[in-house]
Parts: sequence; structure tokens; C-alpha cells
Amino acid sequence: MTDLFHLETPSVDALKFMMDAAIELEMEREPSDFLDKVLHYSRDIVGARAGSLYLVDGDELSFLACQNDDLDISQFITVNTEQPHKIARTEKSIAGYASLHGEPLMIQDAHHIDNSAPYSFDPAIDKKSGFHTQTILAMPLRHPKEGVIGVMELINLQIKDTHHWSIGLVRHFAMLSASSIVNLQMEKSLEAAYLETIFRLGVASEYKDDDTYAHVQRIRYTSRIIANEMGCSLHEQQAIFHASAMHDLGKIGIPDNILNKPAHLEADEWEIMKNHATMGAEILKDSDAELLQLCATIAVGHHEHWDGNGYPNGLAGAEIPLEARIVAVADVFDALVNQRAYKKAWPIEDALALIEGESGSHFDPAVVEAFLNRIKEVKQVQQRFLVTT
Ligand SMILES: [Fe+2]
Ligand SMILES: [Fe+2]
Repeated sequence: MTDLFHLETPSVDALKFMMDAAIELEMEREPSDFLDKVLHYSRDIVGARAGSLYLVDGDELSFLACQNDDLDISQFITVNTEQPHKIARTEKSIAGYASLHGEPLMIQDAHHIDNSAPYSFDPAIDKKSGFHTQTILAMPLRHPKEGVIGVMELINLQIKDTHHWSIGLVRHFAMLSASSIVNLQMEKSLEAAYLETIFRLGVASEYKDDDTYAHVQRIRYTSRIIANEMGCSLHEQQAIFHASAMHDLGKIGIPDNILNKPAHLEADEWEIMKNHATMGAEILKDSDAELLQLCATIAVGHHEHWDGNGYPNGLAGAEIPLEARIVAVADVFDALVNQRAYKKAWPIEDALALIEGESGSHFDPAVVEAFLNRIKEVKQVQQRFLVTT
């Protein structure tokens, strides 16, 4: 029992553990939960009572996960994955040292580290919490191509022999985790680029209109608020948030002189303008991507009326997909309370009166109710994204 990769008796358990962990990690796509699982499994291998995980961010380490079986750690440490606490990546800290050297660092007694060591232990949390940190295994998360991408501190190990196979196993698991983390980061950045492209295409489609970026943002946020109030799942709320950006994609195909006419449209011009709903759906409809299909659904459906008097298909009631009914309210409200080439901005109270008045004719009454219930937040969205042009 010298090195961990020489897995004698524990090999079957160890392999089973690795496979279970790998499958579980593969299924977890939410980054902060993913890191929590990496830390949890790593602690499991060495029986660590506590632990924390950092990811490398340039010259710093971002603090992204923290666990403690003996203490309600949240009273003393806050993990903010949106804006993580950062420490300098230097040899002065244990995590920094291990991440810079790329090798595991075992500390037998955190409170009595040799003075000659470049790193030291910060006893502040122990003092505050009454927790006693004894052993620390600082384990780099090393990726074969990217190098060290992070580091874990596994605290108070429950193994006596520090050459125990489990140290080797956790090292191996850290490598596997590093690859999974990099894959997830790539997946997330691709997803972010995809979603941003949808948003920017939405902005492009409104580009010739009076306000672009701000309008699309207001539609996205307002639609999501309504969807939330209506009890849509988180996934559905996010889908409508992104897909609503493309509601007017078809405006790309509408001539400028109609789109930007500083007066109300003549009947023939209006007919051309109405084509934007179908054109948007035409552009999007053949996609296999679920989100782009929803974009098409919203593009073609956001001018339908609850009573069947809308366009382009004269659908009525529940024939109109819910997402389109939601965007319809968000879009009309936003158009009313903001200035357009052909009209001044309406006072919010007047716009609300119109929406309420058209509940059951133009709009789905349930959507109007949800919208009115959350009007405070809708107004905040209007304030947040004021006209930028
Ligand atoms: Fe539209
Ligand atoms: Fe719009």
C-alpha cells in the first residue's frame, strides 16, 4: 500500500466509486452544484470532515465551494458563485502554493506549520467558529492541457496513513474532475455564446426601430416575470426569456419606410407590416433546436388575439401558445409606455388601463392578471432599461 494508483484490495470499490462519481458529474450541468459534487466526492474518498474548492482565475483563486460536516459553515463563510471571493494565487496561501506547484500538499497540523514554509494557515475562521483544522490535503485540479485549473483543500482527513491508497485515488479523481470542469466550462461558454447570439439577432431585428437593445431587454425580463407568476417551470421561464428576444425577427424583412414611418400606417402598409410575424417564423421554423422552435412560435404568435381577431392566423384562446400570449402583453405594454417614431410614450397608468380593458379580447385574462400582479417588478424593468438611443 504505497501509492494510490496501485489499487490492491480496494480496487473494485475504488473503480466503482470513480464510475459512479463520473456518471453523477456527467449528469450535473449546473456549475456550482457540479463543483459542490466534486468537493463532496473528494472528501468522501479521504473521509475529510470539511473542504473548500477554488478555481484559478488569472493571478487569483476564486472561492467557489465550501463544506463542513461538523459546523454550519454558512454562519462564518459565504460562498458567492456569481461574484466569488478571491485570494491572490501566491505561495503564501496553502491553496495558492499547491496550485502554483501543481502537486498535492499534505499538512499534518495546520496550526503548527514550519516557519520555513512559504505558506501559512489563516486561523481566523477556526477562531471565529470554534472548528479545529488539523490536517489539510491541498489537491490541485490539474488538466492535461490547461494545467492547474483549481485546487481543493480537504480538511481533517480520517485516514491515519498519509500514504494510504485513498490519497492516490483522490489525486486521480481530481484529474478526472479537472477534465469534467473544463468540459463543462466549454459547454457553458458555447451555450452562453448561442444564447447571446439569439439576443443579438433579436436586437438586430429591432435595430431600425426606435430603441433596440433596451426594448429587447425589457421584453425578455417582463416576459420572464409573467411566466414566473403563471407558475411556469424554471426551464420554461428561461426559455421564454431567451426566445422572446426574437419576437420581431421578421422586421428584418420590412422596408425602412414602413418600419420607421413617423405616422400611422396606411392600410396597405399595415398589411406589409403584419408580414413580420410570418417572416420571423419562416426564418426560424426549420430548426431542430428546441429554443429556436420556441422563437418561431413566439414570432408567429405574438400578434394573435385571445378573441381570434389577431394576425397572422386568427388563432383564439388556448390555440395561441402560452409563450406567445405572454409576449403579446409584454410587447404591447412596452410599445405603449415608450416613445415610437409615430407616437409619444404613454403614462404607465394609461397603458395599464388599456391592457386591463383588452383583457379577454386582445389578451389572455390569465396573462393580464399575472402581469398586473407583478407590475411593481415590470416597472423596475422599465427603469432598468431606459431608452439608450
Ligand atoms: Fe411584432
Ligand atoms: Fe418588439
